[in-house]
Amino acid sequence: MLYSEKVMDHFRNPRNVGEIKDADGIGEVGNAKCGDIMRMYIKVKDNKIDDVKFMTFGCGSAIATSSMATELIKGKPVDEAVKLTNQAVVEALDGLPAYKLHCSVLAEEAVKAAVKDYYDKHNISYDKDKYCAGDCACLVEHEHELDKKAKATKATSSKTQTKAHAKTAKNLTTKKSNSKVSGKTNSKSSNKTAKK
Ligand code: FES
Repeated sequence: MLYSEKVMDHFRNPRNVGEIKDADGIGEVGNAKCGDIMRMYIKVKDNKIDDVKFMTFGCGSAIATSSMATELIKGKPVDEAVKLTNQAVVEALDGLPAYKLHCSVLAEEAVKAAVKDYYDKHNISYDKDKYCAGDCACLVEHEHELDKKAKATKATSSKTQTKAHAKTAKNLTTKKSNSKVSGKTNSKSSNKTAKK
């Protein structure tokens, strides 16, 4: 069989699906090639992962790996949870086909991104070198950067639109006054046409 029974089980009955409204940390990661997106929420109590939930928009393996990742970190101390590797996820699932290994990488990154977000929000110092420096979409900051860019683009396009609207309004005013002037001529000619 291509997929192990465990993969099929976590795909069919994923554990810890959903979101945590008052999460202490949220990590969202995505794979640009396949387009899958994973979002991980963590709730921390006494420095342990008290609760964890995920939402994954992606393939069956992405769902199975996120589900298994939540099971592996639940109840663990935060600094231990953050060490979760994609290999550990794959082993716990009794393997994945080679071309699906990147799904487990996404799960590892989602956990790291959620923990990093928790550290940032709670002013907890950590070794920044251990986290993505900006080459992938695995950190929450990237989302903010994208938001900023999207807002900037929106602002530019609305400025352009305002200019375009002003131009159109000007054109319309000119056309209106022209049509007032040409109105008589037009009605005369249309009368002529109607008579014909
Ligand atoms: S196919 Fe890309 S995460 Fe599963």
